[in-house]
Amino acid sequence: MSEARLSLAILISGRGSNMLAIADSCDRGGIGARVACVASDRIDAAGLVAARGRGLEAFALAPAAFGSREAFEDALAERLDAARPDLVVLAGFMRILGPGFVAHYRGRMLNIHPSLLPKFKGLHTHRRALEAGELAHGCSIHLVTDELDGGPVVLQGRVAVRPDDDEASLSARVQAIEHILYPRVIGWIASGRLASREGRPWFDGRALDGPLVEEFDGTGFH
Ligand code: GAR
Repeated sequence: MSEARLSLAILISGRGSNMLAIADSCDRGGIGARVACVASDRIDAAGLVAARGRGLEAFALAPAAFGSREAFEDALAERLDAARPDLVVLAGFMRILGPGFVAHYRGRMLNIHPSLLPKFKGLHTHRRALEAGELAHGCSIHLVTDELDGGPVVLQGRVAVRPDDDEASLSARVQAIEHILYPRVIGWIASGRLASREGRPWFDGRALDGPLVEEFDGTGFH
């Protein structure tokens, strides 16, 4: 049974709340996937402790220990490949990945970004959305390409920005929907509903022209 499940390598840099939400969904058996390993570029990532605490294989590789970005990424890919992942899941992995690494996992690497892409690529997305006076904000799950936060988006979750929102409150609502939507997309891949063909996402047998969008109410839940 377990061998038939989609095998995931999850990359984190911090808290790992998305990684844990995915691991929970795997454990509940609803998404047809299993976590093969958790990797971090930060030895002090809190998510590593949490992953090990629930019996997952988890390791860190510090980029500073390598002579170049390529050397770090080659070593990371070697460790990941030893776990034989079907899918590489970037879940708060805060390093820009080079073209060699991206090419190695082309079509089988996902990222989650805390904005409604193409808005607010990069960092501090919640603050920037507030400063821009956005009425809606959210998260995007996309295939990874060479362009930072630029690959085709599969699914977006949208929340309304409230007049009294600050960075913390908006971030908390967006994270709540990330934890719902990231496992869902992985489940679609595991079941064959979603696939990458020639760099484009296909969903239920047709190419996606744009992202699927799910609206959430102000609480972060439907
Ligand atoms: C998540 O909100 C994710 O969208 C964001 O980092 C957070 C990680 O939280 N990712 C990015 O900003 C990538 N550009 P977590 O460690 O608790 O899952």
